[in-house]
Amino acid sequence: MDNLRAHVTQQFQQTFQSEPDFIIRAPGRVNLLGEHVDYNDGFVLPAAIDRAVWIACSRASALHSTLLAVDLAERVSFSSETIPTKTDLEAKPLPHWAKYPAGVAWALNEAGYETPSINAVFTSDVPRGSGLSSSAAVEMGFVSAWQAAAGVQRDAGAMTRAQLGQRAENQYVGVNCGIMDQFASACGKRDHALYLDCRSLEWQTIPLPEGIVIVIADTAVPRSLSDSAYNERRSACEEAARLLGAKSLRDVRLEDFHRNKDRLPELIARRAQHVVEEIQRTEQSVFLLRQGNVKAFGRLMNECHDSLRDLYEVSCPELNMMVNIARELNGCYGARLTGAGFGGCTVNLVARTEAESFARALAYRYARETNKEPKVYICRADDGAEWCKIQP
Ligand code: GLA
Repeated sequence: MDNLRAHVTQQFQQTFQSEPDFIIRAPGRVNLLGEHVDYNDGFVLPAAIDRAVWIACSRASALHSTLLAVDLAERVSFSSETIPTKTDLEAKPLPHWAKYPAGVAWALNEAGYETPSINAVFTSDVPRGSGLSSSAAVEMGFVSAWQAAAGVQRDAGAMTRAQLGQRAENQYVGVNCGIMDQFASACGKRDHALYLDCRSLEWQTIPLPEGIVIVIADTAVPRSLSDSAYNERRSACEEAARLLGAKSLRDVRLEDFHRNKDRLPELIARRAQHVVEEIQRTEQSVFLLRQGNVKAFGRLMNECHDSLRDLYEVSCPELNMMVNIARELNGCYGARLTGAGFGGCTVNLVARTEAESFARALAYRYARETNKEPKVYICRADDGAEWCKIQP
């Protein structure tokens, strides 16, 4: 949004008494299908959304980078030599948000890229803690900021930027996520979904049919306990693959799974069943989307939610409520929780002509049932992280 661009530019001028050299935009993401399969080498179908982190930055003459989070009125400084180590982080030398830029600076250095000192201010309208990947957006924003300052060409290396972000998250911040969120933020394309093979990292863009919109509904339930439960799910999948003699659940065909599932403890079998079926659903969904068969695509979204609720057990009563209401409303083809679960948002595929009334009715009925104040966004799939040089 242009007003965020103006806002960071003005904050930069005020803070550093000069004009920024670069403006960067890095979006959040929503996932349409392929949930909890990226860390099983499966297929995912996310899209970048029109809510983003905006950064204004310049190369700095100081030996350290200075970063200001406008929304939180907090500022940190570090250089390549003084980035807190992972062990330092336990003593909390950095506010939570600053771990993401520090993590990407660390990952860039580890991979042998230059991280020149920068002055930067940033703001974001990606809701935090809602499962729309606000942290991946911060990561892709700052990888871009350091690369812009180092003179890297913007059009090269979007997937490399995603991998650097994932490395920061896994090895620096300490969250064991897959590649999907950073990939979507880095590689998004306006009005397209992105189809990624998380094993080969090959990907394609799929045009979204014209008559539909993506509606995101935030339950106003913060994602709680998600890190430990997420790690438990990951371990269950690894255990299932091991017991089935496969490298990962990507390699287990549905027929083989059903033939052999008795070899798995009951809970592990349920987790694995979600993953094996979800990989198949996502592969099918791409054919349907290309044909413009939104009804059948929406049915797969519904199946995905039911599976996340019953087999993978990452839903919660409010997410189920939001999904159940949505499915009763006119124009809704499919509704499901999106992202890791345990609170956060649902994603809905809705006929364009019904979107406004759908959004209003969903918010109204959800608030009436739960006494919580939801937020409903009619979204547009957007381009991935990008920067532009401001001409002096
Ligand atoms: C989180 C992780 C992703 C992915 C999803 C679940 O968003 O960061 O890598 O595993 O959960 O699909």
